[in-house]
Amino acid sequence: MTTSERASTGGSASQQPPVVELDNVEIVYDRHFLAVQGVSMEVQESDIVALLGPNGAGKSTVLKMISGIGRSERGEVTRGSVSYKGEDVTNYGANEMVDRGITHILEGRRVFEDLTVEENLRCGLYRDGRRFRFDVEDYRIAFEYFPQLEEILDLKAGYASGGQQQMLVVARALIHRPELLLLDEPSLGLAPKLVRDIFETLVEINREEDITMIIADQNAKRTLEIADYGYVMENGQVELHDPAAELMEREEIKEFYLGTSGDESRYRDIRHYKIRKRWT
Ligand SMILES: Nc1ncnc2c1ncn2[C@@H]1O[C@H](COP(=O)(O)OP(=O)(O)O)[C@@H](O)[C@H]1O
Ligand SMILES: [Mg+2]
Repeated sequence: MTTSERASTGGSASQQPPVVELDNVEIVYDRHFLAVQGVSMEVQESDIVALLGPNGAGKSTVLKMISGIGRSERGEVTRGSVSYKGEDVTNYGANEMVDRGITHILEGRRVFEDLTVEENLRCGLYRDGRRFRFDVEDYRIAFEYFPQLEEILDLKAGYASGGQQQMLVVARALIHRPELLLLDEPSLGLAPKLVRDIFETLVEINREEDITMIIADQNAKRTLEIADYGYVMENGQVELHDPAAELMEREEIKEFYLGTSGDESRYRDIRHYKIRKRWT
């Protein structure tokens, strides 16, 4: 059973505010570069939400403004609002969001290459330069989900494979015991089998640890398979959104995100035509 088959905990039955709510958000970099416009999203507690779309669509920007990291890249929410569990956190910085239980795994498997796998994991014990967990056992949660890491503890992380590095960054994030985990392109550059393994582990983590997740990824198929809900962005806007199982059945998603694509330019033209024809 995939996560998308289980009932979403959100919706009208729930009295709780969404974990994340974006209301008509506009995001501008460097005071004049408009990256995201009119984006509204809701992420319900315990869900896995897929954030899909081509390169440059604005997926990373949305994640960065939720985690506060965007502020340090001169990003600013210039319209609308971002809420976390009902609290207005628009334009809060990364420190404030880490304190609220958000961990953001950036694109590109950022490990400390010269440190060993174990040393990288120990870094998960620190937040904002301060050690916030005191028992080394705290990082053993990493091995529950990624036992392979225990076999390479002394390996310099720079020598680990792409798959091992991806496991390492997820494991390190887990040590923070986040309530909300943001993952940016976790499947990028990994072999299909590894992507499947890592995504299956993400589902286990989501269920066992009750961690809400937003996964921005260009692998729409794999991401929708494990997601409860999905948003498709294009040119800084949300073009489509629906429960993941329904998104997967949509013709335009099947044809242009899940199917075999042909010539790139033709692919873009047709997709634009179809999506706009039906949805705007
Ligand atoms: N730090 C930044 N400064 C200025 N523009 C940026 C920055 N980061 C991203 N952008 C621009 O914002 C738009 C959305 O980018 P991004 O959020 O990275 O898209 P995606 O993650 O979907 O590929 C792109 O046009 C990109 O060039
Ligand atoms: Mg991105």
